[in-house]
Amino acid sequence: MYKTKIAGVGKFIPEKVVTNKDLEQYMETSDQWIRERTGIEERHWLKRGEDTSSTMAAKAAKDAIKMAGIEPEDVDFIIFATLSPDYFFPGNGVMLQRHLGITKTEIPALDIRNQCSGFVYGLEVADQFIKTGKYKNILLVGAEYHSGGMDISTRGRGISVLFGDGAGAVILQATEEEGKGILVTHIHSDGSQAEILSAKNPGMHGGYYDEEASEGGYDTNSDHPFVLVTEKMLNESLIYPFMEGQAVFKTAVKKFPEVIRKALATSGYDTKDVNLVIPHQANLRISQFVQKILRLRDDQMFNNIQKYGNTTAASIPIALTEAIEQGKVKDGDLLVIAAFGSGFTWGSAVIRW
Ligand code: ACO
Repeated sequence: MYKTKIAGVGKFIPEKVVTNKDLEQYMETSDQWIRERTGIEERHWLKRGEDTSSTMAAKAAKDAIKMAGIEPEDVDFIIFATLSPDYFFPGNGVMLQRHLGITKTEIPALDIRNQCSGFVYGLEVADQFIKTGKYKNILLVGAEYHSGGMDISTRGRGISVLFGDGAGAVILQATEEEGKGILVTHIHSDGSQAEILSAKNPGMHGGYYDEEASEGGYDTNSDHPFVLVTEKMLNESLIYPFMEGQAVFKTAVKKFPEVIRKALATSGYDTKDVNLVIPHQANLRISQFVQKILRLRDDQMFNNIQKYGNTTAASIPIALTEAIEQGKVKDGDLLVIAAFGSGFTWGSAVIRW
């Protein structure tokens, strides 16, 4: 069996910078509150009508394709991770195929809905197909247009200050170089607390999960069949993401170290062998906590959430691209990537670069 290598990387960040201070025009917040609790200083937001998650992904993908030395037509599998797709359906994978001008119709396009873990999930899926030789050039992207779907009023400040827009992409190919490539991947899930970090509406649950139907914006006594979006949802801002921040924090600081340790143990390494950990950029405080628990040095941990906020499925490929641009990833280095997010879902990978 072959091993999988990352042959090309790319990122796209929208031009418009939104500082913590800028957020004060929409909500009651402060630079100090946001910095202290999240480490975020600024994030980027799309200008409405300029781009979407799929068009940003195409821009990131073009760079990854170029770096890998291939053409868009050489891509034989598209995997797209996002929680902010252009449409409810069809998925963003086919939109990306269109934007890249890929006219081959025998290639599959798969959408992944695993939020912050989407990229790691995609990596494990892609790895199986490269290892067996089924596909030769897999394009895996993570892209998010968060600013288009957040409550930026004071009511939504506990969550909307965290997120930013952007896209990251990689091209995955087989390598026969001894010892190199993706060494292990692990992906996990626990749906028992699915709603702790969720955007339930609009959705087809019809109030099924709500003890009081009114909570989800539904009146279950009504015999009206339409459930996707109700007036109540719109009037009471029930269409926005919801997060129990402290519960997410507590689980994240447990699962990140657990899944990193598992990755290292399975591949026969120790934290001291690692050159760089690239975690999903959830919150700087979470990453610092993880760093402390694992006793990693500052130079072993990559953080860029300060500039981009949390870009969910895009955060790892953006961070990987930036780490390479900054010369922090060298030939033969041992990299660990890890993610945790809504679902809950989490995962990790060890890569010999
Ligand atoms: N600006 C100012 N005040 C705010 C803001 C804001 N943006 N948001 C909330 N507050 C207020 C609250 O209203 C509350 O006020 P009150 O005491 O008068 O009621 C107070 O600040 C404290 O609110 P908490 O929600 O208890 O704040 P907490 O200290 O828990 O911090 C935070 C919130 C930053 C979200 C924290 O819980 C956290 O870091 N959680 C982890 C979640 C996370 O990182 N998620 C990322 C996405 S998931 C992922 O990627 C894995």
